[in-house]
Amino acid sequence: MAERVSPNRGSILVVDDDRAVLQSCENILTDEGHEVQTAGHGMAALDLLKRTCFDLALVDLKMPGMNGLEMLEAARRIKPDLVVIIFTAYATIETAVEAIKLGAFNYVTKPFTALELVATVEKGLMRADLARQSVRRREESAAGPDNIVWQSSVMEATLNTLRKVAQSDANVLITGESGTGKELAARFVHFASKRANQPFVAVDCAAIPDNLLESELFGYEKGAFTGADHKKRGLLELADGGTLLLDEIGEMSMNLQARLLRVLQERVFRRLGAEKVTSVNIRLISSTNRDLLARVRQERFRSDLLFRLNVVNVQMPPLRARQGDVAVLCRHFLDLHARNLGGPEIRLSPEAAEAMEQYRWPGNVRELQNILERAVVLNEGGIISVADLPDFIFDAVELHEQAAPHTAYKAVRSAWIDGQGRQYFSELLARHNGNVSSAAREAQISRKSFYQLMKKFNLEPRRKALES
Ligand SMILES: Nc1ncnc2c1ncn2[C@@H]1O[C@H](COP(=O)(O)OP(=O)(O)OP(=O)(O)O)[C@@H](O)[C@H]1O
Ligand SMILES: [Mg+2]
Repeated sequence: MAERVSPNRGSILVVDDDRAVLQSCENILTDEGHEVQTAGHGMAALDLLKRTCFDLALVDLKMPGMNGLEMLEAARRIKPDLVVIIFTAYATIETAVEAIKLGAFNYVTKPFTALELVATVEKGLMRADLARQSVRRREESAAGPDNIVWQSSVMEATLNTLRKVAQSDANVLITGESGTGKELAARFVHFASKRANQPFVAVDCAAIPDNLLESELFGYEKGAFTGADHKKRGLLELADGGTLLLDEIGEMSMNLQARLLRVLQERVFRRLGAEKVTSVNIRLISSTNRDLLARVRQERFRSDLLFRLNVVNVQMPPLRARQGDVAVLCRHFLDLHARNLGGPEIRLSPEAAEAMEQYRWPGNVRELQNILERAVVLNEGGIISVADLPDFIFDAVELHEQAAPHTAYKAVRSAWIDGQGRQYFSELLARHNGNVSSAAREAQISRKSFYQLMKKFNLEPRRKALES
């Protein structure tokens, strides 16, 4: 990382196709003591990002080739904690709001003054510092079950299921919208299980290209392919005795799915280029925000693999269906920030708290966490006011057309019943090896009703599941 002159001086990347903007940003920011590098288009910027450690990036929204939003997404894959500030013209302010939803920290409207630019960059750098501190804290307090915060009965029921699941060695598929805490749930299962003292290895199948994922998972022998100049143990071996989380499993290629299936069936695998097989004992947890059955229908996911992964399905409820959780999560994240900053308590004003309650949270807990991180930097005097929250939180359409129905008792109840029902039937089917007649007997309902319920919960009998 670049040497920092003071806590608020940083290493900054500016990306814009307009050379005049690049030049003036460079002048203004270098005068402030920052280190600045510039790129005239997205690809050049990504290249720099891979090679240099930046604290912050200023990215123009409208660029030929890769636009700012695409650049933001790609940059977050390379460096998830990078603080990104978007340049935008008034005409594209809606896209800027979209960018904030996608994780950008803030935006600066063009034309801007030196003062505006410097102030926004300073706040962005404070955010980068906070993020660094919280990563350190996270690493220090190894992710244990204590980190889960909840108040709602929906979440209580989900945690009870997770506790039960932890007692067994069954493969678990954790589903749920993005940001609902799927990875946290996987860690919870691991740390509550008898494997808690063994390794927990997580791999994000979406973030790693296919051939790399294969060698990461299976490892390789020296000389297995060009560049394999030493033997490498794969994640399957590293997780031996413990738990392997295959995150975003829906993104795995058909080829790797076939290899994984073989590992699950035979409990042995071969390193790339190896003659000998290696045996492993792992508990597999997979997670996805995709509808895997739909992917099976599109022939992009193997039904036999799904059947093996999905011995138990736990569905993480969306935040909007968790009555009472927003308040305790806000408290939790704000306390964490205050502790990290070593400062006094930070609170939400009653109006801000009400807005947080009313919002629909399409990005769930992760979005809530992002919005609070931003507000912690923007607030003054330890009280987060409505002015410190992004405008879209107050979007009337979302408030009236979406939030209300989703937090209504009926909607919450039906989301809960759907989650529990799907789980009950999927466990029942697994116990009966996919045999509907025998599962229906245990459930004491007719086969016809059983089939109707399976359809409702998107489940398939074994006969179909094995036809691939
Ligand atoms: N109940 C909770 N209590 C405290 N923190 C939570 C809770 N749920 C989620 N989080 C935090 O929210 C963030 C998102 O959680 P996580 O990564 O587990 O979600 P995810 O469903 O895997 O998201 P994605 O689909 O984006 O990968 C994490 O920082 C996590 O620590
Ligand atoms: Mg995840």
